[in-house]
Amino acid sequence: MACGLQIKDEESSYNKNLFCIPKHYEEDLERVFIPHGLVLDRNGECLARDIIQDMGSHHIVALRVLKGGYKFFADLLDHIKVLNQNSDKSVPITVDFVRIKSYCSDSPTEKINIIGEELSTLNGKNVLVVEDIIETGRTMRALLSKLKDYKPKMVKVLSLLIKRTHQSSGYKPGYTDKFVVGYALDYNEYFRDLNHICILKEKAKEKYKI
Ligand code: IMP
Repeated sequence: MACGLQIKDEESSYNKNLFCIPKHYEEDLERVFIPHGLVLDRNGECLARDIIQDMGSHHIVALRVLKGGYKFFADLLDHIKVLNQNSDKSVPITVDFVRIKSYCSDSPTEKINIIGEELSTLNGKNVLVVEDIIETGRTMRALLSKLKDYKPKMVKVLSLLIKRTHQSSGYKPGYTDKFVVGYALDYNEYFRDLNHICILKEKAKEKYKI
């Protein structure tokens, strides 16, 4: 599968006044990090085609990691559906869900809670895990280890965002170290109703803290 779009820190944000932002969040956001149009364009036919090419030899189960990934997931499935309808070769896709709670406010919780549905449907299938954001990879490692128990034929992970983090080598502080919200990414459940992926202001973290 083709690797993702690299967004460099120095070119990675826009003045929020140039975009449509819901009034109730105007004071909470620092900058627009990734405009909605760019997300939609990248998460388009091209990504769907890569997935079908890599995994389309066999029934695919798209496993949505709740709650964050819902916009990314829904838009991606729409594109795969269009491809399936318009090409000579098509592949059945079913969906399943798993809920993971690994963050409280902007800090990782000690224990990763995987609240599973009945996942025995993954047995022998090509599983596409769709996640919203990977930071340290701790959450994904825990999920992949659980998925092994169900003996899928193949597992691939697709993440909307992968943060550069101080825990990987070559770390350079920048916007990617900030907390981002929007396009269903949340801060304590707020900001899912925002189209653009934006950088949260420090003072907004206090405002919405639980
Ligand atoms: P990891 O386990 O460190 O890779 O963290 C991944 C999880 O942390 C994601 O599933 C999100 O729930 C959450 N997360 C990490 N950074 C952000 C962020 O900037 N915005 C929203 N959620 C985040």
